[in-house]
Amino acid sequence: MTTSEVPGSERDDTTSAAVSSASVAPASASTKSVAFELNGQSVSARVRPGETLLQTLRDRFDLISPKDGCSPQGQCGCCVVKVNGQGVTSCAMKTTKVEGKTVVSNEGLSEAERTLIASCYVATGGVQCGFCIPGFVSRTSALLDRNPDPSRDEIRKALGVHLCRCTGYVKILDAIELAAKVKRGEAELPVLGVDEPGVGKRLPRYKGSQYALGDEPYVEDMTAQGMLHGAVRLADHPRAVVKRIDTKAALLLDGVVAIVTAADVVGARRYGLIEQDWPSFVAEGETTSMVGDVMAAVAAVDRYTAREAAKLVEIEYEVLEPITDPMQAMAKDAPQVHASRGNLLSTTKYARGDVVQAFANSAHVVKESFRTQTIEHLYMEPEACMAVPRDAGKLQVFSQGQGVYDDRRQLGRALALAETDITVTLVSNGGAFGGKEDLSIQVQTCLLAQKCGHPVKLTLSRDESIRIHPKRHPIWMDYEVACDEKGKLTAVRTKMIADTGAYASVGAKVVERAAGHACGAYAVPNVSVEGHCVYTNNPPNGAMRGFGVNQAAFALEQLIDALGEKVGLDPFEMRELNLLREGERFGPGQKLRNCAGLLRTLEAVKEQYYGAKFAGIACGIKNVGIGNGMIDVGRARIDVLAGGKIRLGHGMTEMGQGLHTVALQMMCESTGLPLGEVEVEVCTDDDLDCGMTTASRATVLVGNAVIDAGKKLKNDLEAAGGDLSQLEGRKYRGEFLCDWTVKPGTEADDPVTHLSFGFAAQVAILDEETGKVKKLLAAHDVGKAINPTLCEGQIEGSVHMGLGYALSEELQLEGGFPKNATMRKIGVLRAHETPEIEVILVEEPEPMGPFGARGVGEIGLVPTAPAVAGALYKFDGRRRTVLPMRDNYEKPARSKSK
Ligand code: FES
Repeated sequence: MTTSEVPGSERDDTTSAAVSSASVAPASASTKSVAFELNGQSVSARVRPGETLLQTLRDRFDLISPKDGCSPQGQCGCCVVKVNGQGVTSCAMKTTKVEGKTVVSNEGLSEAERTLIASCYVATGGVQCGFCIPGFVSRTSALLDRNPDPSRDEIRKALGVHLCRCTGYVKILDAIELAAKVKRGEAELPVLGVDEPGVGKRLPRYKGSQYALGDEPYVEDMTAQGMLHGAVRLADHPRAVVKRIDTKAALLLDGVVAIVTAADVVGARRYGLIEQDWPSFVAEGETTSMVGDVMAAVAAVDRYTAREAAKLVEIEYEVLEPITDPMQAMAKDAPQVHASRGNLLSTTKYARGDVVQAFANSAHVVKESFRTQTIEHLYMEPEACMAVPRDAGKLQVFSQGQGVYDDRRQLGRALALAETDITVTLVSNGGAFGGKEDLSIQVQTCLLAQKCGHPVKLTLSRDESIRIHPKRHPIWMDYEVACDEKGKLTAVRTKMIADTGAYASVGAKVVERAAGHACGAYAVPNVSVEGHCVYTNNPPNGAMRGFGVNQAAFALEQLIDALGEKVGLDPFEMRELNLLREGERFGPGQKLRNCAGLLRTLEAVKEQYYGAKFAGIACGIKNVGIGNGMIDVGRARIDVLAGGKIRLGHGMTEMGQGLHTVALQMMCESTGLPLGEVEVEVCTDDDLDCGMTTASRATVLVGNAVIDAGKKLKNDLEAAGGDLSQLEGRKYRGEFLCDWTVKPGTEADDPVTHLSFGFAAQVAILDEETGKVKKLLAAHDVGKAINPTLCEGQIEGSVHMGLGYALSEELQLEGGFPKNATMRKIGVLRAHETPEIEVILVEEPEPMGPFGARGVGEIGLVPTAPAVAGALYKFDGRRRTVLPMRDNYEKPARSKSK
């Protein structure tokens, strides 16, 4: 598949003739000719000094299956192609090295091999966001050419360089094993049939094969006639007064078309999902707040020129000492990150019962301080945006953000345009996990497109991505938990301080959520919780899978183990005794309903927990829907088109979780229609605003809306005697609204803070000799698995992310700068470092969920780190209070039994 061109982007080219050239730097005397065989054809290219094979394949030959996840690091595997039959990371190989060699990308595999490998990946559920998968497909092809019958361990080893942030590798390994079997004639080629598209079926992922092979375009794979390329210049210091920004030298660079700075912003220069504190550009005279601040943006004929010009923007600073410690930031005399306000972004407080009395009267009390780390999402696809000017000053924006309607709302303010003048079309993204909720470079891209009068595409480098987008909050927690002489919990008291970095993002909500889940999945009659969110000059922290709940669980679950030890109950017995039962109150006071699944998840892991010598156990509860007083709304529309074709529109983001697929399944179930020719699209022109894709709510909200629309269609279909053609041209709109939740701390007899919840119990089992984690068992109450394959995949991926959180992952910061911002050093676990993950699906239907479903997007990693901590304690007798627990990852722990 070659670069995907956006239709309707033809405009008069009034800027310069250079603008219509391809995205390749012009040939010069220093270029060198390289001849090789590409996908079966002899080709030659004149390449720049240092040009990589990935650049050559994408820029000069318009191939899009090799994806750029980290160039030039060569550490993620998204760009792997076959060179002389070997899988190589094309971003780390100079094109001159392939002189006379054979290069094969997925586009050049035979049709039979493409079908075989892609079908196996899709049938096993190995494709989630899909961004990493084309590289895995290439590797699979190379591996099976060399070794037709690889063992699972040999496959793991062969995947050494590859990273996948979505799947936990389980289903990728399954896919490769299946492909090998099919190739050897020991298994049938999977048929990606659609005979049974309804709820509960393992329907293949929507467009799964296209994603597996790399044919489905992400934003960076798109182009438009006359398109220019953008680049940003970021701040050089996390806290510095900007004395002067001079763009003259950059503008003189050949190929530069335009540069925008703060002076070009005609609308509101600051944006934000909740607080408008994040500037699209820092202006002269202002002070930078982080090293991800944008100082200028450049449009040029190719991305190399744009990036070169961005470096040439001259900026004069008066450098100030950054504030990087949230405790220091809270001090009375601390300098302020934002001049107009103090460093305290928010405080969440609530209490139930009489905590002071309860602690005084309790038989046992345990108390400890905990600290969690900054976590980078490290989705494989860096942020990208394309803006296309349309007639009458209108703009079309191709976004991979987590909320196209929030993107449009913020863009309207920033560009001083009516929202109706902006169309934001979702391009399904290569992973997000919360990190694409905030705007990244959408405003800058639009401003460049407006200024140039041409389409502009801007893609961040990995380093820029890490500097800019919000991460998972590090939280400092002082926790006290008490119980009676029998082990029944009596009280929880905790104080949390979270570093929210330079901008508010959704930090206040994260701390609200951490505080709300301070008592976890347990019945606690007396509670006092206080959480603070503090600005610093670190990169911002905001939404990330788990949204504060992981941090609280790490602390609380270990203290429950510690109390059990005092009482004489083991960790399983403590949980069995204290888990929330029907009608008991969740932390902030909501009486739980339909929560029998919680105990069922615990029972589901009992045998393996007691069967292992060194095992840890933890439980999890996670809200579904934003709640806490905010409105949750889902909207969808089913359009009946000519020829029986269906278009399903909704308002949330497909980011690998399989939302489009389960939405289709619920449409088929509610209408009785088969899965015929169908398109799923998300675009603001549909007027189906659902807010952000966040809080594990997409399946629940979109699903309920689809059911609403489906019922209407079904009624008409029955009246038409089942003849769909009679409904041609009709549009069926559905909606689901939850507007009845309240904030934690609201005075009410029966406060409802959340629409529903998901429940889980997990066990971590260690190798008896080495103390390494050898298995993770995850039992989850999912209400109803709309698609069991995708549901398992969500949990496997979360558990993998949770294990990295437990043992190896951390974005280390020094003076406000990321200091280990490479794919390797950041600590995401690779296939050979990931232990066995077993998922048990428990189904206790949730009345508020579509067909009984609960959201599963986040809860998968809530219990993982404390389960691992519990297992390690059993192994060596040490309680861990700091994440990551790196000692177990980097070198084997010593068994206390030796
Ligand atoms: Fe591997 Fe998303 S499917 S990164």
